[in-house]
Amino acid sequence: DRTIKIAPSILSADFANFGAECEAIEAQGADWVHVDVMDGHFVPNITFGPATCAAIRPHIKGVMDVHLMIAPVDPYIEAFANAGADVITAHVEAGPHIHRTLQAIRGAGAKAGVALNPGTPASSVEMLLDMVDLVCVMTVNPGFGGQKFIHSQVEKVRDLRAMIGDRPIHIEIDGGVDPTTAPLVAAAGADVLVAGSAVFRGGSVSNPAPYGENIRAI
Ligand code: DX5
Ligand code: ZN
Repeated sequence: DRTIKIAPSILSADFANFGAECEAIEAQGADWVHVDVMDGHFVPNITFGPATCAAIRPHIKGVMDVHLMIAPVDPYIEAFANAGADVITAHVEAGPHIHRTLQAIRGAGAKAGVALNPGTPASSVEMLLDMVDLVCVMTVNPGFGGQKFIHSQVEKVRDLRAMIGDRPIHIEIDGGVDPTTAPLVAAAGADVLVAGSAVFRGGSVSNPAPYGENIRAI
């Protein structure tokens, strides 16, 4: 189904309180929980790895959506699957063997996602459509929360939606999603919207109501 799902990114959460933050955003209406893994190599920032994913897993009732911004990726797929990831997304730019990577993700029992940086065309996933459950369109350059939405990517979303046709593949948008940009990508065919700063702003685990207001505003 193509109902819009909101996937708050815990990159904008309180890193000292991930368990409580995950519970708070789900209680406030989050559909998925988006987990941004960064290695300081593929992207210029470092977050956390499979041990943290395993630690937060019991605090998430729904989908744990793990976005790997790491290279190489293949040696770590098993670890993220074992940590309880429901969806594991790898970047098409992260190595020469994305097809093998996607096979390995499905082989490990997770749903497979492929992410595209803003400079990468929609056509780069054309040969992968039987291998993926999700295509993630980066609408910022990956690495940091709170960046400005790159409008040129909306056309890419439209192209991907046409290319995907009736296949059961989610189109996820990641970066700069807020109440202004969300309708643009939803109209272009996206159905999973990641949002970090736009969800967590103004709230906290002790004052979670703003999370719900922010989610409903998107
Ligand atoms: C960027 C991450 C995004 C980011 C989105 O590298 O993949 O998930 O946290 O943050 P906002 O919504 O603040 O742009
Ligand atoms: Zn992400």
